[in-house]
Amino acid sequence: MQLSVHWVGCAALLSLLIVGEVWCACTEDNMQIEGGHYTLTKGLNASSMLVYHCPEGFYPYPSRRRVCLLTGTWSEMPRRSKPQTCRMVECPNPFVLMHGSVYPPQEKYFADNETTYECYSGYTLRGSARRVCLPNGKWSGSTPICSRDSGSDCADPGIPAGALRNGNSFGLDDKVKYSCTGNLFLVGSSVRVCLENGQWTGTEPACYYDYTYDTPLEVSEAFGSAIKGSLTTLEPTDDTQEGRKIRISKTGTLDIYIGVDISESIEEKYFNDARDTVAKLITKISSFPISPNYEVVFFSSEVFEVVNILDFLDGKVQLNVLKTKVESFKIGTGNTAGTDLNLVFMTFLERMALIKQRTGDDGFKEHRHVIILFTDGAYNMGGSPEPTVEKIKNMVYMDPNYKQKEPLRAEYLDIYIFAIGAQIFDDDLEPLTVGTGGNHYFRMKDIKKLQKTFDEIIDEDEVKGLCGLHKDYVTTEERENYPWAAQIVVQNEGRVMKCMGSLVTPMFILTAAHCFTFEDLPKHVTVDINDGQGRIKRVKNFFLHPKFNVSAKVNEGVKEFYDYDVALIQLTEFVKISTLVRPICIPCTQETSDALKLVGESTCAAQEQLLLKNMEKLTFLTRKGKWVDEKHVHAKLGDKRDECIQHALEAPGITAKKAEIPVTENFLCTGGRTPFRDHIACTGDSGGAVFKNYEHRTVQIGVVSWGSKNLCKGGGVVDSDENSRDFHINVFRVVPFLKSILGNDNQDDYAPLEFLKS
Ligand SMILES: *[C@@H]1O[C@H](CO)[C@@H](O)[C@H](O)[C@H]1NC(C)=O
Ligand SMILES: *[C@@H]1O[C@H](CO)[C@@H](O)[C@H](O)[C@H]1NC(C)=O
Ligand SMILES: *[C@@H]1O[C@H](CO)[C@@H](O)[C@H](O)[C@H]1NC(C)=O
Repeated sequence: MQLSVHWVGCAALLSLLIVGEVWCACTEDNMQIEGGHYTLTKGLNASSMLVYHCPEGFYPYPSRRRVCLLTGTWSEMPRRSKPQTCRMVECPNPFVLMHGSVYPPQEKYFADNETTYECYSGYTLRGSARRVCLPNGKWSGSTPICSRDSGSDCADPGIPAGALRNGNSFGLDDKVKYSCTGNLFLVGSSVRVCLENGQWTGTEPACYYDYTYDTPLEVSEAFGSAIKGSLTTLEPTDDTQEGRKIRISKTGTLDIYIGVDISESIEEKYFNDARDTVAKLITKISSFPISPNYEVVFFSSEVFEVVNILDFLDGKVQLNVLKTKVESFKIGTGNTAGTDLNLVFMTFLERMALIKQRTGDDGFKEHRHVIILFTDGAYNMGGSPEPTVEKIKNMVYMDPNYKQKEPLRAEYLDIYIFAIGAQIFDDDLEPLTVGTGGNHYFRMKDIKKLQKTFDEIIDEDEVKGLCGLHKDYVTTEERENYPWAAQIVVQNEGRVMKCMGSLVTPMFILTAAHCFTFEDLPKHVTVDINDGQGRIKRVKNFFLHPKFNVSAKVNEGVKEFYDYDVALIQLTEFVKISTLVRPICIPCTQETSDALKLVGESTCAAQEQLLLKNMEKLTFLTRKGKWVDEKHVHAKLGDKRDECIQHALEAPGITAKKAEIPVTENFLCTGGRTPFRDHIACTGDSGGAVFKNYEHRTVQIGVVSWGSKNLCKGGGVVDSDENSRDFHINVFRVVPFLKSILGNDNQDDYAPLEFLKS
């Protein structure tokens, strides 16, 4: 806390600075670090922070960072005897194993050093037999434990490296207590109790040096599984489809409070990263079919509110507005000199009190609260937040005895802390975490890494099959933007037809019927969809819409009639679902209602209303180079549609007098230049999904079918001219066909999709 003390002085003096005269600049003399380098947050100006950096596997010693004081000197100047250097990272002492031995014996273990573990005879090993000291100061794998069956209620919980354990009996209600030796710091449960079900309470503790950091992967696994608990436990038990449906119960409400420290304790550029990270977190949470209410604040000595949770409750703020607000938030001219951590908790406590006032005690019981805080824990104002955290517990648990024993409502409150920075005040921060179901305290060097971390949270088995999930930013894996996209080749004798398609279930691809001719057989069809298990998929069968008949209106002046131009291709095997390959959402399914967050009994009409408005911007894909590019169009509905479809009469092969003859109600019309210049489809685009992204899920609205003019020479992204029009099958109009195959529950080949009743 040495630093915080300085700041009290610094903050007070800073106000003098504004008045005028005081000036100070530090110098860079003697600030070098052997083996590393440093960065300055505000040059050599007062309150600038100098942060030391070392290569991986090393850490700065003795100081992590220094602050330029108003006196023109750096805080914590090194003593002559201790020059600033990069030291090798050590891992905690592995010689804590009971009933076994550790090789090789060393006084210290540095990054890349290995250890192996063996149990004495009569004992069996659980955990890792070989561990490597990682550059972040942790051992790889899991704690080795040598135990023998003693008939105890609980299994031996082991002793993590660097720890001491008090308590060696593992019967019901027995307690084990952990502490860390030397200057190590304990993260996790210091006390664990053996429960009736044979499990220990809490989470396995770990001993951290002050340079020990969690890797993004570790945070992703731990935070991911914990937050998913909050995001999914609102579901009533619903065992359809291997439990991969997540439903929000009608009464449960999730309130998420996010606080981000933007005080000068944190580097300036950190702010933008922090802001982006919060936006990312919200985005990721929004990919779950649950709609939490949010309170988002940035804080230093004051609280800067980005969104008030009460506005959320009142429906005054929608998710997209929240995201925009977060993304465009700028630190004003407010005072960012101090840090008042308590004030943040007080703000959250007040909001909870207001919610409780509105909903009444019974209503409040249905609210789960998740607080997520990003800070380095250095506060110099407002005092310790601990009493406020106790008040929050008291309010949520509704149990006066919560301190003596685990409260019944424990799962209604989680406080996660992401401790971030060059120097972290663990002793103050870690005790503020609250919650069951895994680690709630994470130590990270850099908030930027968290974006990736939050991203990986949804890439887990239980949600990866959800339709329409995709990444909406540039990634190295292009497929991740359109994981449902498929390219189709039909090759029969001399004829080669290339089409686009969309994965609608792990076994079916939706495309256009006109991609096939009468003579084509399944063996002539291949689907290119790279799921990491071979690009080219073989086809078991394909099904054209029974009403598709190109020559149906020859007598009415339509040489080629494309009504019902849809087909489904069934693969011989399921594709492997991952971030690279997953289905798109299609109209009138329950999963799409979940994706659109339509709660209760929803209808096709409700989906269509949400997704398809006049001039709705829609997208389809075209082959480009090795992969694809986007084409943007606007759906012309109502009056606009009448005008739009007239241009069908200009198409070659059409002599009909009325546009409604070739263009039935089943078509969407796009193209033209007014009011927006649309792109126009080319031959190879046929069968592709015309889609819309809604709340980060992709829903297919149409299937690219035919156009009035061929403006494409080589393909690619081509602008429409004034009169060129494209006609796409409106998928809402062909649902009975989709349902007859995808929703068929009289077969054992695949799990049927759940279609809405109406
Ligand atoms: C240092 O302070 C001066 C005067 O306020 C300012 O013009 C300059 O941009 C600051 N330098 C840095 C690197 O922040
Ligand atoms: C442990 O790591 C240190 C530092 O990299 C190295 O010098 C030493 O040889 C390693 N010891 C063993 C047994 O690998
Ligand atoms: C397609 O329509 C034409 C004209 O109505 C009809 O003669 C023909 O039998 C139809 N073909 C099929 C396969 O239904």
